[in-house]
This record gives sequence, structure tokens and C-alpha cells, in this order.
Amino acid sequence: MAFLFPENFIWGAATAAAQVEGAASEDGRGLSIWDVFARQRKTIEHEDTPETACDQYHRIEEDVLRMRAIGIQSYRFSFSWSRLLPEGTGRVNPAGVAYYHRLLRCLHENGISANATMHHWDLPYALALKGGFGNREIVDWFGDYAELLFDEYGEMVDYWVTFNEPIATYVGYGRGLFAPGLKDEKYARQCLHNLLVCHGETVKRFRRRKLPSRIGIVVDVWHHYTSDPSNEEAVRAAQRGNELEGYGMFLSPLFLGEYSPILRRYWEENGLTPAMEPGDLVTIAQPIDFYGLNFYDGLFDGNSQLPSDTAEKKGGNFQERDRHYPQAVYDVLHMLVKKYHISVPIYITENGFRQEDGDKDELLRDNGRIAYCSEVLRWVHRAIQDGIDVRGYYLWSLLDNFEWTAGYTARYGLFYTDFRTQERIPKKSASWYQRVIQHNGLE
Ligand code: GCO
Repeated sequence: MAFLFPENFIWGAATAAAQVEGAASEDGRGLSIWDVFARQRKTIEHEDTPETACDQYHRIEEDVLRMRAIGIQSYRFSFSWSRLLPEGTGRVNPAGVAYYHRLLRCLHENGISANATMHHWDLPYALALKGGFGNREIVDWFGDYAELLFDEYGEMVDYWVTFNEPIATYVGYGRGLFAPGLKDEKYARQCLHNLLVCHGETVKRFRRRKLPSRIGIVVDVWHHYTSDPSNEEAVRAAQRGNELEGYGMFLSPLFLGEYSPILRRYWEENGLTPAMEPGDLVTIAQPIDFYGLNFYDGLFDGNSQLPSDTAEKKGGNFQERDRHYPQAVYDVLHMLVKKYHISVPIYITENGFRQEDGDKDELLRDNGRIAYCSEVLRWVHRAIQDGIDVRGYYLWSLLDNFEWTAGYTARYGLFYTDFRTQERIPKKSASWYQRVIQHNGLE
């Protein structure tokens, strides 16, 4: 085995509630901002909605068996806040509580560990009406929601993720291309600050519980490169991509305890500085137990992590890319340690490859996914050889699902989903991944 991974390396698969659960109007679930965004604004490709998605709410048992058949060791899923607390705060929905008990019991019975995200973009609509992340009260709303999760599922979850890809909140409040569809940069900047405080406050509450599990956060890193360092404009564009509209907005406060000087200057010059309370920065930088890296690609001159207005309906990964650069994962892992002094274990909480919907047989022969993910894994392996503490890899995604604004047109699954019949068919990559897991590495 040329690329053998460390013993105990975790091989997983990832999904998110709004993308797979469906049953959006069943059993007392409240609306999330994505339900409303999809229904009212018609901003999703083909006017698709997350109403049914993969119907995993009714099919979790069979999907867990699918995971087991491939050998998947850990399932990364997210809780739907509005399924548990239909109004976001207060009244608890017993059917929602029961669903996640069912899910966790099933994982447990099949020897699959649980990596659970508290917030994967689907804010309860009731809270959006009260200002959502822009309302400072969200710190308590989120904290109370988190405590409900700790009380109910504290013994069953192995890894807690407070937030998945906080940047989505910026895209939703600042660019209008995600739910809730606002275009107010100042408000969006406030949302991001409040979101980070929610994270830190939740970590504090978690510590008080002394649970046997670990807690962290997932930040996606799309590193912007400049191929010509003598081109000042290109250098500035890359810096903007990394620091003002990318990972730097989060990694700096989370791991260095302060917003970067470049970001603060940008806020000041543009009247965008968010309101903060004393102690916020200390709260945000609470020590965490692991860091989750969502890695998809590197970006070159002119490509941005943020969608251009013409990139509507492109889904979660909306970049127009003219080249793929899997080596970026290696550079990024080194940067995490060097620039942000990250010393906790790192998990690749997402990596995957998109296929446009089309001919089913071609989609099942997903050689592109196998090639790209293998290449990323080789670079991860090399970073581990260099001494970087990467403990696991979660492939996005277990099955084709609701890809945000791209609806059902972008397929990321190891399993092909027939959205009419809900049949799932393993793609070629499913047996590839099974072999990787069996051998704990690649040839
Ligand atoms: C993200 C999200 C996932 C996406 C995936 C593919 O990274 O955007 O975490 O929900 O579906 O990345 O775009």
C-alpha cells in the first residue's frame, strides 16, 4: 500500500439535514429559511425545494446499512434546528427529538460513530423573522438549542460541530444568493460576528457538561492563489478572497483571538465594523478539541469563493473554475499550522466532486470523482507524513442530495439517488471508497 494512513484514521461520509431529510412539513417540524427561500423566491434551479430531498427521515435505517456495507466508520450529519424547536426557541417537538434518537441508535447499533453538526445553514424561519443572526439574542437562542442537544444526545454523539461553513450566512445576508436572500453587507458582517459568539458560548456550555465527546467547528478553506505575484491587482484580489471574504474572517478570531488588521481596516474604511461586546473575542477563541476542514479546491486569479451574480443557482460550491488544484489541500494544511497555529487534530470534514445531472449510466461510472478524491487523499497523506495531525476524512456526500440553489441538478453522492423513486444505486466510487477503507489507504 503506497499511501497507507495512520492506524485509527477515520473514514466517513457527510450529509446535512436540509439536503437529505425531506419530511419538511411532517411531524411538527417548523420551516427553515431554506424552505421559505425555495418556495417563495424561486431562486433554486428548476424551482426544486428541500421538501422531500432524499427522504432520509423515513429511510435512515436503510441508509445506515448502506454505510455499513461500504465500511464507513463515521457519519457526519446535521440536526435540523426547526425539527427540534419549530419556533427556534421554547417549545420542543417530541417527534423531532425521537427522530435523532432513532438515527443515533441506528448508527450505534451498526458501529458507526456520530459526527453531528448543530447548524448547517438551515436557520428556523421563525428566528429569521426576528433578525436571525443579526439579532444578538441569537447567542441565547443558539445556546439553548445546543443545551437541548447536549441533554438529549450527549452520550450518543462522538464529535460535535457547532457550525458548518459560517460563510454561507454571509452569502445569505450579504449577497442574497443563499437563504434568507438579503443583500446587506453591513448586516451580514454583524451576523458573522454574532455567529462566532454563538460558537464560543456553546463551547463554554459544552465544557460545563463534562461530556465524554469532543467539540469543534467546520470552516471551509478555498485558498486564493495568484499565479503572477508581480501583478499587484491580482495579489490584492487574492488577499481580498482569503481575508475579507474567505477563511481569514473566521480562522483569525477563532485561533488567533483577533480579527486580522486587513479585515478591520476594510470594515473601518467602509463603515462595516460590527457591534461587539467586551469579552467577545475571548469567547470566540475558546479552545476547541478539533478543527474540521471542508476542502474542495484551490482558486486562481479571478475566481472567487463568492458567487458572482451570474453564478446563481450553482449550489454550495458555486465557483466558476477553470482548473482543479488538489495540491491546495496540502498547502492549506500547512498554512493552518503555520499561520493559524492550529495544534488540535484536524479532520477533513468534507471533500467531494460534483457531477452535473445527466445520463444515469454515465453518472454511475464516476471516474472523475475517484480520480479527484484519490488525488486529494494523496496530498493529505503527504501532509500527514510531514507531521500534520489529520485524523479523518469524510467524503461529501453519501448520496446525491438537495444541492442548495442547484436543487437536484448537482450530484455529489457515492450513491446515485433517483429522486422520483428514492432508489439509491451505488456508483463506481462506492466500491472504490470501500476498498480505500478496507486497506486504510490507496495504491
Ligand atoms: C458546502 C456544504 C455542503 C455542500 C457541498 C457541495 O460545502 O457547501 O457544506 O452542504 O453541499 O459542499 O457543494
